[in-house]
Amino acid sequence: MNTKVLIVDKNVDNLESCPQITQAAELLQKNEVVALPTETVYGLAGNANDDKAIVKIFSAKGRPADNPLIIHIGDFDQLNDIVSEVSNEAKKLMKAFWPGPLTLVLKKKFGTLSNRATAGLSTVAVRMPNHPIALAIIKKCKLPIAAPSANQSGKPSPTTAKHVYADLAGKISAIVDGGPTNVGVESTVVDCTENPPIILRPGGITKEQLEEVIKTVAIDQALIDKGAAPKSPGMKYRHYAPNAPFFLVEGSRSFLQQLADEKRAAGLRIGILTTEEYKDEYEADVVLACGERRNLESVASHLYETLRTFNDLQVDIIYGEVFPPIGVGQAIMNRLSKAAGNQLIKEINES
Ligand code: TXA
Ligand code: MG
Repeated sequence: MNTKVLIVDKNVDNLESCPQITQAAELLQKNEVVALPTETVYGLAGNANDDKAIVKIFSAKGRPADNPLIIHIGDFDQLNDIVSEVSNEAKKLMKAFWPGPLTLVLKKKFGTLSNRATAGLSTVAVRMPNHPIALAIIKKCKLPIAAPSANQSGKPSPTTAKHVYADLAGKISAIVDGGPTNVGVESTVVDCTENPPIILRPGGITKEQLEEVIKTVAIDQALIDKGAAPKSPGMKYRHYAPNAPFFLVEGSRSFLQQLADEKRAAGLRIGILTTEEYKDEYEADVVLACGERRNLESVASHLYETLRTFNDLQVDIIYGEVFPPIGVGQAIMNRLSKAAGNQLIKEINES
Protein backbone atom coordinates (compact mmCIF):
# COMPACT_ATOMS: atom_id res chain seq x y z
CA MET A 1 0.00 0.00 0.00
CA ASN A 2 1.26 3.47 -0.86
CA THR A 3 1.04 5.73 2.20
CA LYS A 4 0.17 9.31 1.17
CA VAL A 5 1.69 12.15 3.17
CA LEU A 6 -0.73 15.10 3.41
CA ILE A 7 1.02 18.25 4.65
CA VAL A 8 -1.21 20.74 6.48
CA ASP A 9 -0.40 24.09 8.11
CA LYS A 10 -2.29 23.94 11.40
CA ASN A 11 -2.43 27.74 11.62
CA VAL A 12 -4.43 28.43 8.44
CA ASP A 13 -7.97 29.77 8.78
CA ASN A 14 -10.88 27.57 7.90
CA LEU A 15 -9.02 24.26 8.15
CA GLU A 16 -12.22 22.29 7.56
CA SER A 17 -12.31 23.37 3.92
CA CYS A 18 -8.65 22.58 3.28
CA PRO A 19 -8.33 19.83 0.59
CA GLN A 20 -5.98 17.63 2.67
CA ILE A 21 -8.44 17.68 5.58
CA THR A 22 -11.27 16.74 3.22
CA GLN A 23 -9.17 13.90 1.80
CA ALA A 24 -8.37 12.55 5.28
CA ALA A 25 -12.04 12.78 6.33
CA GLU A 26 -13.13 10.93 3.18
CA LEU A 27 -10.61 8.15 3.78
CA LEU A 28 -11.98 7.74 7.33
CA GLN A 29 -15.55 7.59 5.96
CA LYS A 30 -14.39 4.81 3.63
CA ASN A 31 -13.11 2.93 6.71
CA GLU A 32 -9.45 3.46 5.82
CA VAL A 33 -6.94 4.39 8.55
CA VAL A 34 -5.08 7.70 8.66
CA ALA A 35 -2.42 9.01 11.06
CA LEU A 36 -3.04 12.52 12.34
CA PRO A 37 -1.50 14.91 14.85
CA THR A 38 -3.06 15.57 18.26
CA GLU A 39 -1.63 17.85 20.94
CA THR A 40 -0.06 14.84 22.72
CA VAL A 41 1.28 12.40 20.10
CA TYR A 42 0.27 11.34 16.58
CA GLY A 43 -2.75 9.00 16.56
CA LEU A 44 -3.71 6.28 14.08
CA ALA A 45 -7.32 7.18 13.33
CA GLY A 46 -10.17 4.99 12.13
CA ASN A 47 -13.99 4.96 12.17
CA ALA A 48 -14.86 3.75 15.69
CA ASN A 49 -18.22 2.42 14.46
CA ASP A 50 -16.72 0.01 11.95
CA ASP A 51 -15.11 -3.34 12.79
CA LYS A 52 -13.11 -3.40 9.53
CA ALA A 53 -11.50 -0.04 10.23
CA ILE A 54 -10.66 -1.14 13.78
CA VAL A 55 -9.08 -4.38 12.56
CA LYS A 56 -6.87 -2.27 10.23
CA ILE A 57 -5.68 -0.19 13.19
CA PHE A 58 -4.81 -3.24 15.29
CA SER A 59 -3.03 -5.01 12.46
CA ALA A 60 -1.02 -1.99 11.25
CA LYS A 61 0.29 -1.45 14.79
CA GLY A 62 0.65 -5.12 15.70
CA ARG A 63 -1.44 -4.30 18.79
CA PRO A 64 -2.85 -7.04 21.05
CA ALA A 65 -6.65 -7.29 20.56
CA ASP A 66 -7.34 -7.05 24.31
CA ASN A 67 -6.05 -3.48 24.49
CA PRO A 68 -8.98 -1.08 23.91
CA LEU A 69 -8.69 2.18 21.95
CA ILE A 70 -9.47 5.75 22.96
CA ILE A 71 -12.46 7.23 21.10
CA HIS A 72 -11.88 10.84 19.99
CA ILE A 73 -14.75 13.28 19.58
CA GLY A 74 -14.92 16.75 18.05
CA ASP A 75 -17.83 18.17 20.07
CA PHE A 76 -19.90 17.38 23.15
CA ASP A 77 -22.94 16.18 21.12
CA GLN A 78 -20.97 13.13 19.92
CA LEU A 79 -20.72 11.93 23.52
CA ASN A 80 -24.41 10.91 23.60
CA ASP A 81 -23.89 8.17 21.00
CA ILE A 82 -20.99 6.63 22.89
CA VAL A 83 -21.57 6.73 26.65
CA SER A 84 -24.60 5.82 28.75
CA GLU A 85 -23.73 7.69 31.94
CA VAL A 86 -21.62 10.71 32.89
CA SER A 87 -20.95 11.24 36.60
CA ASN A 88 -20.81 14.74 38.11
CA GLU A 89 -17.05 14.39 38.54
CA ALA A 90 -16.67 13.48 34.87
CA LYS A 91 -18.76 16.51 33.87
CA LYS A 92 -16.54 18.82 35.89
CA LEU A 93 -13.37 17.32 34.38
CA MET A 94 -14.69 17.65 30.82
CA LYS A 95 -15.66 21.25 31.42
CA ALA A 96 -12.21 22.05 32.81
CA PHE A 97 -9.95 20.09 30.44
CA TRP A 98 -11.69 19.40 27.12
CA PRO A 99 -10.50 19.85 24.51
CA GLY A 100 -7.22 18.65 26.04
CA PRO A 101 -4.95 15.76 27.03
CA LEU A 102 -7.43 14.04 29.37
CA THR A 103 -9.16 10.72 28.59
CA LEU A 104 -12.16 9.67 30.67
CA VAL A 105 -13.27 6.06 31.08
CA LEU A 106 -17.09 6.03 31.21
CA LYS A 107 -19.92 3.48 30.91
CA LYS A 108 -20.27 2.51 27.25
CA LYS A 109 -23.54 2.91 25.36
CA PHE A 110 -24.16 -0.31 23.47
CA GLY A 111 -25.22 0.43 19.91
CA THR A 112 -23.08 1.95 17.20
CA LEU A 113 -19.51 1.61 18.56
CA SER A 114 -17.44 -1.33 17.31
CA ASN A 115 -17.05 -3.90 20.06
CA ARG A 116 -13.48 -4.48 18.89
CA ALA A 117 -12.58 -0.83 19.49
CA THR A 118 -13.46 -1.25 23.17
CA ALA A 119 -12.00 -4.81 23.35
CA GLY A 120 -15.41 -6.10 24.47
CA LEU A 121 -15.42 -4.03 27.71
CA SER A 122 -18.57 -2.41 29.15
CA THR A 123 -16.64 0.86 29.49
CA VAL A 124 -15.20 3.22 26.89
CA ALA A 125 -12.30 5.70 27.01
CA VAL A 126 -13.18 9.07 25.42
CA ARG A 127 -11.28 12.27 24.79
CA MET A 128 -11.63 15.53 22.84
CA PRO A 129 -8.14 16.38 21.52
CA ASN A 130 -6.93 19.98 21.57
CA HIS A 131 -5.42 20.15 18.11
CA PRO A 132 -6.93 22.15 15.24
CA ILE A 133 -6.15 19.45 12.64
CA ALA A 134 -7.54 16.54 14.68
CA LEU A 135 -10.68 18.54 15.51
CA ALA A 136 -11.19 19.66 11.89
CA ILE A 137 -10.92 16.08 10.59
CA ILE A 138 -13.26 14.64 13.23
CA LYS A 139 -15.85 17.36 12.59
CA LYS A 140 -15.58 16.97 8.84
CA CYS A 141 -16.06 13.18 8.82
CA LYS A 142 -18.78 13.35 11.51
CA LEU A 143 -17.65 10.05 13.06
CA PRO A 144 -16.34 9.02 16.46
CA ILE A 145 -12.65 8.33 15.82
CA ALA A 146 -10.72 5.51 17.46
CA ALA A 147 -7.04 6.46 17.67
CA PRO A 148 -4.20 4.76 19.51
CA SER A 149 -0.74 6.28 19.27
CA ALA A 150 0.49 5.84 15.68
CA ASN A 151 3.59 3.78 16.51
CA GLN A 152 4.44 0.14 16.01
CA SER A 153 3.23 -1.52 19.25
CA GLY A 154 5.97 -1.45 21.91
CA LYS A 155 7.97 1.41 20.31
CA PRO A 156 8.07 5.01 21.56
CA SER A 157 4.97 7.00 20.54
CA PRO A 158 5.40 9.28 17.52
CA THR A 159 5.66 13.03 18.01
CA THR A 160 6.38 13.84 14.34
CA ALA A 161 5.01 12.59 11.03
CA LYS A 162 8.50 11.24 10.30
CA HIS A 163 8.24 8.88 13.30
CA VAL A 164 4.89 7.62 12.01
CA TYR A 165 6.36 7.10 8.54
CA ALA A 166 9.29 5.12 9.97
CA ASP A 167 6.91 2.74 11.80
CA LEU A 168 3.85 2.47 9.56
CA ALA A 169 4.71 3.42 5.93
CA GLY A 170 3.12 0.91 3.56
CA LYS A 171 0.64 -0.22 6.21
CA ILE A 172 -1.77 2.75 6.36
CA SER A 173 -3.56 4.91 3.76
CA ALA A 174 -2.24 8.33 4.77
CA ILE A 175 -0.34 10.46 7.26
CA VAL A 176 -1.48 14.03 7.90
CA ASP A 177 1.71 15.95 8.66
CA GLY A 178 0.88 18.93 10.88
CA GLY A 179 4.35 19.37 12.37
CA PRO A 180 5.63 18.18 15.75
CA THR A 181 3.16 17.64 18.58
CA ASN A 182 3.31 19.84 21.62
CA VAL A 183 2.74 17.94 24.88
CA GLY A 184 4.85 14.94 23.85
CA VAL A 185 3.40 12.36 26.26
CA GLU A 186 -0.04 10.82 25.91
CA SER A 187 -3.24 11.92 27.62
CA THR A 188 -3.93 11.17 31.28
CA VAL A 189 -6.45 8.31 31.53
CA VAL A 190 -8.92 8.66 34.43
CA ASP A 191 -11.52 6.01 35.29
CA CYS A 192 -14.70 7.94 36.11
CA THR A 193 -16.83 4.82 36.62
CA GLU A 194 -15.32 4.65 40.13
CA ASN A 195 -15.76 7.03 43.03
CA PRO A 196 -13.35 8.69 43.61
CA PRO A 197 -12.08 8.64 40.00
CA ILE A 198 -8.80 6.76 39.49
CA ILE A 199 -5.78 7.76 37.39
CA LEU A 200 -4.98 4.69 35.26
CA ARG A 201 -2.22 6.34 33.20
CA PRO A 202 -0.42 9.58 34.16
CA GLY A 203 -0.14 12.00 31.23
CA GLY A 204 -0.51 15.53 29.94
CA ILE A 205 -2.91 16.66 32.70
CA THR A 206 -1.30 16.26 36.12
CA LYS A 207 -2.83 14.88 39.33
CA GLU A 208 -2.36 18.34 40.84
CA GLN A 209 -4.43 19.91 38.03
CA LEU A 210 -7.19 17.30 38.41
CA GLU A 211 -7.35 17.94 42.15
CA GLU A 212 -7.99 21.62 41.55
CA VAL A 213 -11.29 20.60 39.90
CA ILE A 214 -12.44 17.54 41.88
CA LYS A 215 -11.42 17.05 45.48
CA THR A 216 -10.17 13.49 45.47
CA VAL A 217 -8.41 11.56 42.74
CA ALA A 218 -7.01 8.10 43.41
CA ILE A 219 -4.07 6.46 41.62
CA ASP A 220 -4.19 2.92 40.28
CA GLN A 221 -2.17 0.79 42.71
CA ALA A 222 -0.24 -0.70 39.78
CA LEU A 223 1.36 2.71 39.13
CA ILE A 224 2.86 2.62 42.62
CA ASP A 225 3.41 -1.08 43.25
CA LYS A 226 4.97 -2.64 40.14
CA GLY A 227 3.70 -6.09 41.21
CA ALA A 228 -0.02 -5.14 41.14
CA ALA A 229 -2.18 -5.83 38.05
CA PRO A 230 -3.05 -2.59 36.22
CA LYS A 231 -6.74 -1.66 35.75
CA SER A 232 -6.02 -0.36 32.26
CA PRO A 233 -5.28 -3.20 29.82
CA GLY A 234 -2.62 -1.22 27.92
CA MET A 235 -0.55 -0.57 31.03
CA LYS A 236 0.49 -4.20 31.38
CA TYR A 237 2.56 -4.22 28.21
CA ARG A 238 6.21 -3.20 27.86
CA HIS A 239 6.27 0.03 25.93
CA TYR A 240 8.39 2.81 24.57
CA ALA A 241 11.46 0.59 24.58
CA PRO A 242 14.53 1.74 22.66
CA ASN A 243 16.42 -1.03 20.85
CA ALA A 244 19.36 -1.04 23.28
CA PRO A 245 19.02 -2.12 26.94
CA PHE A 246 18.05 0.98 28.92
CA PHE A 247 18.78 1.57 32.61
CA LEU A 248 17.52 4.41 34.79
CA VAL A 249 20.15 5.59 37.23
CA GLU A 250 19.23 7.12 40.58
CA GLY A 251 22.26 8.82 42.10
CA SER A 252 24.97 11.34 41.34
CA ARG A 253 26.21 12.24 37.89
CA SER A 254 29.65 10.90 38.78
CA PHE A 255 28.04 7.54 39.59
CA LEU A 256 26.30 7.48 36.21
CA GLN A 257 29.56 8.44 34.50
CA GLN A 258 31.35 5.62 36.32
CA LEU A 259 28.79 3.08 35.04
CA ALA A 260 29.31 4.39 31.52
CA ASP A 261 33.11 4.29 31.85
CA GLU A 262 33.10 0.65 32.97
CA LYS A 263 31.10 -0.46 29.93
CA ARG A 264 33.08 1.74 27.55
CA ALA A 265 36.26 0.13 28.81
CA ALA A 266 34.73 -3.20 27.81
CA GLY A 267 34.34 -1.85 24.25
CA LEU A 268 30.61 -1.06 24.26
CA ARG A 269 29.03 2.00 22.66
CA ILE A 270 27.31 3.92 25.44
CA GLY A 271 24.42 6.40 25.32
CA ILE A 272 23.50 8.79 28.13
CA LEU A 273 20.11 10.48 28.46
CA THR A 274 20.35 13.77 30.33
CA THR A 275 19.08 17.34 29.97
CA GLU A 276 20.52 20.61 28.58
CA GLU A 277 21.80 21.58 32.04
CA TYR A 278 24.23 18.66 32.31
CA LYS A 279 24.95 17.42 28.79
CA ASP A 280 28.48 18.85 28.78
CA GLU A 281 29.37 17.12 32.04
CA TYR A 282 29.26 13.60 30.62
CA GLU A 283 31.60 11.70 28.36
CA ALA A 284 30.12 8.89 26.30
CA ASP A 285 29.66 7.86 22.67
CA VAL A 286 26.25 9.53 22.49
CA VAL A 287 25.05 12.10 25.04
CA LEU A 288 21.51 13.37 24.36
CA ALA A 289 19.81 16.27 26.13
CA CYS A 290 16.07 15.77 26.50
CA GLY A 291 14.73 19.27 27.22
CA GLU A 292 15.58 21.18 30.37
CA ARG A 293 15.32 19.70 33.84
CA ARG A 294 14.06 23.02 35.22
CA ASN A 295 11.14 22.81 32.77
CA LEU A 296 9.67 19.29 32.89
CA GLU A 297 7.18 20.13 30.10
CA SER A 298 10.15 20.48 27.75
CA VAL A 299 11.43 17.06 28.87
CA ALA A 300 8.01 15.49 28.14
CA SER A 301 7.89 17.17 24.77
CA HIS A 302 11.30 15.75 23.68
CA LEU A 303 11.10 12.35 25.42
CA TYR A 304 10.06 10.01 22.59
CA GLU A 305 12.16 11.80 19.98
CA THR A 306 15.21 11.30 22.22
CA LEU A 307 14.49 7.58 22.73
CA ARG A 308 14.14 7.18 18.96
CA THR A 309 17.41 9.03 18.32
CA PHE A 310 19.30 6.49 20.43
CA ASN A 311 18.04 3.85 17.99
CA ASP A 312 19.28 5.85 15.00
CA LEU A 313 22.73 6.25 16.58
CA GLN A 314 23.00 2.56 17.43
CA VAL A 315 24.26 2.41 20.98
CA ASP A 316 24.73 -0.84 22.95
CA ILE A 317 23.51 0.39 26.34
CA ILE A 318 21.69 3.55 27.49
CA TYR A 319 21.91 5.07 30.96
CA GLY A 320 19.33 7.73 31.84
CA GLU A 321 18.84 10.22 34.64
CA VAL A 322 15.64 10.03 36.72
CA PHE A 323 13.21 12.94 37.19
CA PRO A 324 11.14 14.08 40.18
CA PRO A 325 7.65 12.51 39.94
CA ILE A 326 5.94 15.87 40.34
CA GLY A 327 3.50 17.40 37.84
CA VAL A 328 4.23 16.04 34.36
CA GLY A 329 7.27 14.33 35.96
CA GLN A 330 4.85 11.51 36.91
CA ALA A 331 4.13 10.77 33.26
CA ILE A 332 7.81 11.13 32.32
CA MET A 333 8.90 8.63 34.99
CA ASN A 334 6.05 6.25 34.09
CA ARG A 335 7.17 6.17 30.43
CA LEU A 336 10.89 6.01 31.24
CA SER A 337 10.35 3.15 33.72
CA LYS A 338 8.43 1.25 31.06
CA ALA A 339 11.10 1.98 28.45
CA ALA A 340 13.65 0.60 30.93
CA GLY A 341 11.51 -2.47 31.68
CA ASN A 342 11.70 -1.21 35.31
CA GLN A 343 15.51 -1.63 35.37
CA LEU A 344 16.73 0.91 37.93
CA ILE A 345 20.30 1.18 39.22
CA LYS A 346 20.57 2.95 42.58
CA GLU A 347 23.75 4.47 43.98
CA ILE A 348 24.37 3.28 47.50
CA ASN A 349 25.67 6.00 49.77
CA GLU A 350 27.75 4.61 52.59
CA SER A 351 27.73 7.34 55.19
O1 TXA B 1 -2.80 11.08 24.01
C1 TXA B 1 -3.35 10.00 23.76
O2 TXA B 1 -4.13 9.45 24.58
C2 TXA B 1 -3.05 9.34 22.42
C3 TXA B 1 -3.58 10.25 21.31
C4 TXA B 1 -3.41 9.65 19.94
O3 TXA B 1 -4.93 10.56 21.57
N1 TXA B 1 -3.63 8.04 22.34
C5 TXA B 1 -3.15 6.98 23.04
O4 TXA B 1 -3.80 5.78 22.80
O5 TXA B 1 -2.23 7.05 23.82
P1 TXA B 1 -3.20 4.36 23.20
O6 TXA B 1 -4.06 3.39 22.52
O7 TXA B 1 -1.78 4.31 22.87
O8 TXA B 1 -3.46 4.27 24.74
C6 TXA B 1 -4.77 4.09 25.23
C7 TXA B 1 -4.73 3.65 26.67
C8 TXA B 1 -4.29 2.21 26.79
O9 TXA B 1 -3.47 2.08 27.94
C9 TXA B 1 -5.63 1.47 26.97
O10 TXA B 1 -5.50 0.25 27.64
C10 TXA B 1 -6.41 2.49 27.78
O11 TXA B 1 -6.07 3.72 27.21
N2 TXA B 1 -7.89 2.25 27.67
C11 TXA B 1 -8.66 2.35 26.56
N3 TXA B 1 -9.94 2.03 26.85
C12 TXA B 1 -9.97 1.73 28.17
C13 TXA B 1 -11.02 1.31 29.08
N4 TXA B 1 -12.27 1.16 28.68
N5 TXA B 1 -10.67 1.09 30.36
C14 TXA B 1 -9.39 1.26 30.80
N6 TXA B 1 -8.37 1.65 29.99
C15 TXA B 1 -8.66 1.88 28.70
MG1 MG C 1 0.23 3.89 22.77
